[in-house]
Amino acid sequence: MKDYNILVIDDEAAQRDVLTGYLKKKGYKIFSASSGKEGVEIAGRSPVDIILSDFKMPDLNGIEVLEQVKKINPKISFVVVTAYGTVENAVKAMRLGAFDYISKPVDLDELDLMIDRIIEHKNLKSENQLLKTQLQDKYKISSIVSQSQKMEEVINVAARVADSKATVLITGENGTGKEVLAKAIHYMSSRKDSPFVAVNIPALTETLLESELFGHERGAYTGADKMKKGRFEIAHGGTLFLDEVGDIPQSIQVKLLRVLQEHQFERVGGTDNIEVDVRIIAATNKNLEQKIKNGTFREDLYYRLNVVSIIIPPLRERKEDVLPMIESFIKKYCEENKKDTVEISKEAADVLMKYNYPGNVRELENIIERAVVLTRGKVITLNDLPMSIKGFKEERTITAPGEGTLTEQVETLEKQLIFDALQESGGNQTKAGKLLGLTERNLRYKLKKYNIKH
Ligand SMILES: Nc1ncnc2c1ncn2[C@@H]1O[C@H](COP(=O)(O)OP(=O)(O)OP(=O)(O)O)[C@@H](O)[C@H]1O
Ligand SMILES: [Mg+2]
Repeated sequence: MKDYNILVIDDEAAQRDVLTGYLKKKGYKIFSASSGKEGVEIAGRSPVDIILSDFKMPDLNGIEVLEQVKKINPKISFVVVTAYGTVENAVKAMRLGAFDYISKPVDLDELDLMIDRIIEHKNLKSENQLLKTQLQDKYKISSIVSQSQKMEEVINVAARVADSKATVLITGENGTGKEVLAKAIHYMSSRKDSPFVAVNIPALTETLLESELFGHERGAYTGADKMKKGRFEIAHGGTLFLDEVGDIPQSIQVKLLRVLQEHQFERVGGTDNIEVDVRIIAATNKNLEQKIKNGTFREDLYYRLNVVSIIIPPLRERKEDVLPMIESFIKKYCEENKKDTVEISKEAADVLMKYNYPGNVRELENIIERAVVLTRGKVITLNDLPMSIKGFKEERTITAPGEGTLTEQVETLEKQLIFDALQESGGNQTKAGKLLGLTERNLRYKLKKYNIKH
């Protein structure tokens, strides 16, 4: 007996019998109902996991059944069985939370595949729920917000590999959450009580990077008057996060390869072999395979780093995450700014759902932070969003803040316009200056005055 209970709702006995007969043979526990109402009743009193419901029935139609079932038990996976030509209704049902639809006459192989998918999805969800609760309870890592199937899969892989020593390569566009995920892997692992050490590779020159990673002996350079431990040593027992690993200079790639192979290295200017136990997580937004082709990244190093590969999809490919993220960022920034909590208007949320986020989660977070700071009421409205997001053509109504002296109000407006111009120009100060009719120097002065960091 398979551990899943399926309810078949159909007013036609013949159709019901085909499905129930087949699924029983497959080993599922089956309930059946000959009307929408009866189906809803059964879903209310029996442990149903999956519902296959006909669409056209005399009392309730498939969508009405779906709506009532979702209220009773949102965990039930709902499949609409629909005749050809009424696909619009099926699509509507999916928008309302149905898992999928299947056309009549039901192809039993297709049905099998669909049920397998439902079960896989359910397992993944409950496993992740468990992992997340464990995580939040134990390590207070509530920083990853996710709702989409794509992110659930990412988190699932991360959780599975967390406790191994395998090197992980996280790839994703800017702002997709590579560092957040790297930290989550560390805190999920048994290394959690040892350090998580991050190295931002592009921020360091070649010489500095070498000594930052491996440390140096006294006298290794002019000015090196003391021995210094490198990040590999500092991360001993823990995790070393190599951020933007694609930018690592070739001379250091060789040294890094050796540590990955032998877990040993020497400090710069030293001869002693130092052994470390460090788990490496690397991240990049570059296409490393391309870099290998160009000859700027060593293939052997790539394979050492890419033992487990995790690709974080861009936010525009997982729009289901947008609303929960908005909620979580509103909460975060209201707390940070000591504001009473605010809500977001439907129009503003709609616009944010449509936007394509070239800067991914970081961009969404910035938008919400800015909106929380700017909004004067209890609700974030379209006016609190940057111009670039509302669409350049849309007319903007600027309202004065209404509180404070004239100078203060003018300053608030000025700040808002500068923010908008920077958003519109993608952070390019020359362009933003042009949009505002300011010289670059004048703009820089104002950025400093208002403490706007971009
Ligand atoms: N799933 C998420 N839930 C909540 N916040 C997130 C999530 N993903 C990213 N963030 C937030 O977005 C911002 C960017 O994340 P992070 O620095 O991890 O991205 P990144 O991929 O390393 O970016 P970059 O390529 O620019 O280095 C951070 O402030 C982070 O807290
Ligand atoms: Mg990063």
